[in-house]
Amino acid sequence: MLRETIPQDWLPSVKEHLPEILVDHAHLERKAATSSINLEKYRVLYPHVEELNAIAIEELQHFQLLLALLKRRGIPFGQPYPSLWITGLMRSVRSGIQHQAIDHLLCCALIEGRSCEKFQLLAQGLRDTDPELATFYASLVESEGNHYATYLLMARGIDHPEADRRLDFYLDLDASLIRQPRLHHTLH
Ligand SMILES: [Fe+2]
Ligand SMILES: [Fe+2]
Repeated sequence: MLRETIPQDWLPSVKEHLPEILVDHAHLERKAATSSINLEKYRVLYPHVEELNAIAIEELQHFQLLLALLKRRGIPFGQPYPSLWITGLMRSVRSGIQHQAIDHLLCCALIEGRSCEKFQLLAQGLRDTDPELATFYASLVESEGNHYATYLLMARGIDHPEADRRLDFYLDLDASLIRQPRLHHTLH
C-alpha cells in the first residue's frame, strides 16, 4: 500500500548509530502507548476503549523491553528528538471531532505500519552483526503490524469512504515526507 520505499541509506545509517536509535525507539514505544490512550478522548472511539487500552499496555511492555535492552548494553536512557516525518503527518490532522479522530487514527496507523516495515529491515539487516537485536526486532513485527491494521479498521469504522479518501492523502504525504533527510538519529 505504501507509495515510497524506505530510502537506501536508512539501514546503513541506523546501523551506524544503534545506541541513539535504541533510545529513540524506547521513546517511540512510550509515545505509542500515550497515543493509544489519547485516542480514547474521541467519543466515537468509546466502544474501542478496551482495545485501545490493550494496545497501550502492549506498547508499554515494548517500552520496558527497550529499557531493559538499554540497561544490558550500558546505554543511558536519553532525551527524545523530533522526527520531521512524524510531525509532518500529525500537523495535517484536521479539526472537527469526526475528522480529527479519523486523521489521528490514520497517522497512528502509518506510524505503526512504517515501524513494522523498518523492524523487518532491521531484523534482516542485523542478523550477522547483532543477532540479539535482529531477533528482538523480528519479535516486534507482528505486534506493530496488528496495531497498524487495528487503527486502520477503527478509522474505517467511523466513516469508510472518508477514511479511504484521507488514507489516499496520507499515503501521498508519507511518500513525500519519507524522502526528506532525518535531522537526528531517529528511527523515523
Ligand atoms: Fe510497539
Ligand atoms: Fe505499536
